[in-house]
Amino acid sequence: MKRRSFFKFGMLSALASILKPQSLMGMNYAVSKVDLDPQKPVVISTWSHGLAANEEAWKLLGNSGKALDAVEAGVRHTESDLTNRSVGIGGRPDREGHVTLDACIMDDQSRCGAVAYLEGIKHPISVARAVMERTQHVMLVGRGAKSFAIDCGFEKFKTPIKEVKQDWKEWKKEHKDEFEKPEINHENHDTIGMLAIDENGNISGSCTTSGWAYKLAGRVGDSPIIGAGLFVDNEVGGACATGMGEAIIRIAGSHTVVEFMRQGHSPEMACKLAVERIISKHSDVKGLQCGFIAINKNGQVGGYSVYNGFNYAYKNSKENSQLIDAAFDRKW
Ligand code: GLY
Repeated sequence: MKRRSFFKFGMLSALASILKPQSLMGMNYAVSKVDLDPQKPVVISTWSHGLAANEEAWKLLGNSGKALDAVEAGVRHTESDLTNRSVGIGGRPDREGHVTLDACIMDDQSRCGAVAYLEGIKHPISVARAVMERTQHVMLVGRGAKSFAIDCGFEKFKTPIKEVKQDWKEWKKEHKDEFEKPEINHENHDTIGMLAIDENGNISGSCTTSGWAYKLAGRVGDSPIIGAGLFVDNEVGGACATGMGEAIIRIAGSHTVVEFMRQGHSPEMACKLAVERIISKHSDVKGLQCGFIAINKNGQVGGYSVYNGFNYAYKNSKENSQLIDAAFDRKW
């Protein structure tokens, strides 16, 4: 960036931090109050299901627990919610009727673990943690991931659940074209990604999903991919992603957000710059929703999405878990 434009950009960032949401020259740029408020411990997670997940995480974080334990416990709550159609065992299947789960976890030591295309196991996030802690690998997929989970004694669960199977049968009647692109929106596609900083200032993150509803069999999105769905660098901060995984993978989204924070940008500005990169790589972003949330080393947070409607749950020691509307680039 040229010196002059860098200066202009810096001025805009500073202005944004004192202006109210959506007041910056007509742009949908906003810096939420919490973004300006350094503190720890803090936990954030994507979408409204993050409110309950944060409360679970807080049972550990609020009692001097470690961020790693908190981000695992938090999203386990969402994974076992049978009413959730985009995360865990209540999730929607691929177009062949298989519910395949993706998850990853990363800690303050840059250790990481992931599972993809895992079927019939209740808590993929805990299997991801076991991959990180008990093997020399980072990612296990499919049949191998399932055998590993069973060997480790993780609880099995038969999927799809009855209601989901019924919905899938109805969907199949209407959608006969094998390669038809299913619609993607926040109702069929909302990963939970969680980031926490503990009272020692250590950061960890987790990410888990059942992926794009009625995806092609074999499809894996961004959520289990370290650097795409989740990235943590304890010297800088962490980020995680939600939305269309294919677009997030193309720019190594969460890693990109962390690198923007390393350059000195606030969490929200870092998320905005990553969203702008996604937009710049697509000739048409109609219907392409992606969002990021981020936390930095001071416990400041932010989020940003391509379209309006994305929100994330925030919890610190002073306030109850609250839902924050992320700033966005454009309206639906
Ligand atoms: N972001 C979740 C997925 O694309 O599967």
